[in-house]
Amino acid sequence: MMMSRGATRVARSVMGQVGSRYFSVAALRSAEPMAGAVLGSPYRVPERAVVTWMRFPVVGVRNASTLTLGEKEQTEEKENLTGSAGGAGGEEKEVMSYWGVEPAKVTKEDGTQWTWNCFRPWETYKADLSIDLNKHHAPVTFLDKLAYWTVKSMRFPTDVFFQRRYGCRAMMLETVAAVPGMVGGMLLHCKSLRRFEHSGGWIKALLEEAENERMHLMTFMEVSKPRWYERALVFTVQGVFFNAYFLAYLMSPKLAHRIVGYLEEEAIHSYTEFLKELDKGNIENVPAPAIAIDYWRLPADSTLRDVVVVVRADEAHHRDVNHFASDIHYQGRELKDNAAPIGYH
Ligand SMILES: [Fe+2]
Ligand SMILES: [Fe+2]
Repeated sequence: MMMSRGATRVARSVMGQVGSRYFSVAALRSAEPMAGAVLGSPYRVPERAVVTWMRFPVVGVRNASTLTLGEKEQTEEKENLTGSAGGAGGEEKEVMSYWGVEPAKVTKEDGTQWTWNCFRPWETYKADLSIDLNKHHAPVTFLDKLAYWTVKSMRFPTDVFFQRRYGCRAMMLETVAAVPGMVGGMLLHCKSLRRFEHSGGWIKALLEEAENERMHLMTFMEVSKPRWYERALVFTVQGVFFNAYFLAYLMSPKLAHRIVGYLEEEAIHSYTEFLKELDKGNIENVPAPAIAIDYWRLPADSTLRDVVVVVRADEAHHRDVNHFASDIHYQGRELKDNAAPIGYH
């Protein structure tokens, strides 16, 4: 009897959930003409579009807004929504659309408006160019040699494919270089959650590295446009490399960080060759992209050569961080017990 009552309660609860879901579908469908009214458009939103909204509310609303509204109308819509969702009078009201959160207005030191949304002024820095570019971790153990020769073997096909097109080569390599920091940071993040423990700053340090590498890519994108087959190559390489690095990090973070350490040594070499080509005049030393000037706080008249110099310095910092992380594991210690070099540029 007890079992039967319990089962009835569970069934009611489940039906309650299902029922309310059906109810919300019905409510949305009946609100269909209203949806058009809220968006300020005479256009009658088809049923299919409403269902899509329900699944992907933000995307649906943005698409609808973009398609049906002018800029002025969008502003009006936003004002209306702010009013209806606001807490004046303490009344809770439902809205059919939600236009997100406005980012804070930021200005540069000279008072002009900050135009980059992908990074903010406090994330910019002056690269430390005094770093030793020739430091090399001598591979001694089996794992070190495995890491070293894995990276060396990847260099051959890269040399054959790109030859002396260093601008394109840099851009393509950055699509790979930005992966390990994100994978390592993500895995450490999950580990921190699972074990209820601090990370020693390593999550932040690795995610910073991933973001820094992505900024290298955003910069080189401005001076070299990828062709269709290069984009296809990025797709393939990312699919393979992401999964391979993910597995490698799960099995041996010691090996994974060592591989990245050697990858960074190769990147330094690659950028040194890039500089030689620029100095010989084989690659045009064009003005530095605006994004690079703001990100590395470069003088306004900087050139591509100046950009390559600061990017190379970044790679040297990544080399140090990853060899350090591998060494920590080699000593049988955990990353969390050794403070990560956050903000090491
Ligand atoms: Fe890079
Ligand atoms: Fe790097």
